[in-house]
Amino acid sequence: MAVRKITEYPEAVLGQVGKPVTEFDEALAELCADMYETMYEAEGVGLAAPQIGLNMRLFVMDCEGVKLIAANPEIIAAEGEQSGQEGCLSVGKVPAVVVRANKVTLKAQNEHGEWFEETAEGYAARCFLHETDHCNGKLFIDHLPKMRRDMVVKRFKKEKRW
Ligand code: NI
Repeated sequence: MAVRKITEYPEAVLGQVGKPVTEFDEALAELCADMYETMYEAEGVGLAAPQIGLNMRLFVMDCEGVKLIAANPEIIAAEGEQSGQEGCLSVGKVPAVVVRANKVTLKAQNEHGEWFEETAEGYAARCFLHETDHCNGKLFIDHLPKMRRDMVVKRFKKEKRW
């Protein structure tokens, strides 16, 4: 296992739609182990492959008791609304309030290629949406009005200079 370097905004891979995962082999299991190690080291609750520079539809998460590997993730149901703080390891964890669906069903494949569905609410649902967005080349700041988005980016760049 190894901690990988986290890709940061505005690196191009973060804005690309990921390629589907097609091989469910030992290499994928090792990659997921590295992603977990990288996520825990950075004290995050989710990490998607583009965040370690890989253009793949894959994420890992461990958020409020929901721990899973999701390859080729899709959000198949979403209801309600929540408004809460969100941040991203690729944007220096600078927080911003993002409105999201409150109850979300994720459909994805595990590391063996088996399809599953998982429904979560609140923060874990937010994590499903945030990480699936990463697989589609979208960041949480893309959900913000331009002025608030610019503020997050400005603060991130300022902190980076330290
Ligand atoms: Ni993120």
